[in-house]
Amino acid sequence: MKITVIGAGNMGAGFVKQLHAAGHSVKLASRDAAKSAALAAKYPGVQHVPAQGAAADAEVVVLAVGYGDAPAALASLGDLSGKVVIDITNPLSADYMSLTVGHSTSAAEQIAQAAPKSHVVKAFNTLFAAVLDDGANFSKAAKVSVFVAGNNDAAKQTVKQLATSMGFDAVDAGGLNNARYLEPLAGLNVYFGYGAGQGTGISPAWIRKS
Ligand SMILES: NC(=O)c1ccc[n+]([C@@H]2O[C@H](COP(=O)([O-])OP(=O)(O)OC[C@H]3O[C@@H](n4cnc5c(N)ncnc54)[C@H](OP(=O)(O)O)[C@@H]3O)[C@@H](O)[C@H]2O)c1
Repeated sequence: MKITVIGAGNMGAGFVKQLHAAGHSVKLASRDAAKSAALAAKYPGVQHVPAQGAAADAEVVVLAVGYGDAPAALASLGDLSGKVVIDITNPLSADYMSLTVGHSTSAAEQIAQAAPKSHVVKAFNTLFAAVLDDGANFSKAAKVSVFVAGNNDAAKQTVKQLATSMGFDAVDAGGLNNARYLEPLAGLNVYFGYGAGQGTGISPAWIRKS
């Protein structure tokens, strides 16, 4: 798949690594050109590009910026009509211990309003960057669950395929309003990781009887 990642921080780096390993065609844009150029240079074939036009031929855009930066990042990409936009954001408070949005809306729904011509799909927000970096090697016991919520079935299918190609267990989590559940789930994960001191080598999984 042709994928544009915007944001070259912790999560952007994990996406570039795993998408490249899975054989996808990856373009990377970020605010700090030197940072994204250095990241792209680690992976042969990954292109560092300016944001404007970076998503022109992309099937999927991975929005790997903070929730507060999302509208500007989306706007900088230009026309996103018909594109699948993966929203991985968690609207965390400054101390990471609560959410700034929730119950009657979600970061994902707000982002969808900021990019109304795209198909926003919530996914990957419950994975710590360290888990994404490990990818399929994270656990010998089980695959990491990637919960996928969105209103467009084809877009959701694309994101599920993408997650599967990276070695994760894609779990259909219904419509985009279920991001109202997925964002607090990530908040709980952050509590376990930081608040309760378990570290970032943990991830929520949806277990089936076998
Ligand atoms: N870290 C985690 O474990 C984790 C887990 C799940 C979900 N998330 C979510 O994933 C998102 C990214 O987290 P992160 O930890 O990767 O953050 P990060 O390390 O701070 O990286 C964010 C990146 O976005 C770039 N950026 C900000 N505004 C931009 C814009 N307008 N245009 C282009 N690039 C822009 C930043 O550029 P600069 O270098 O110039 O600041 C930086 O490269 C957040 O929404 C977070 O809630 C994170």
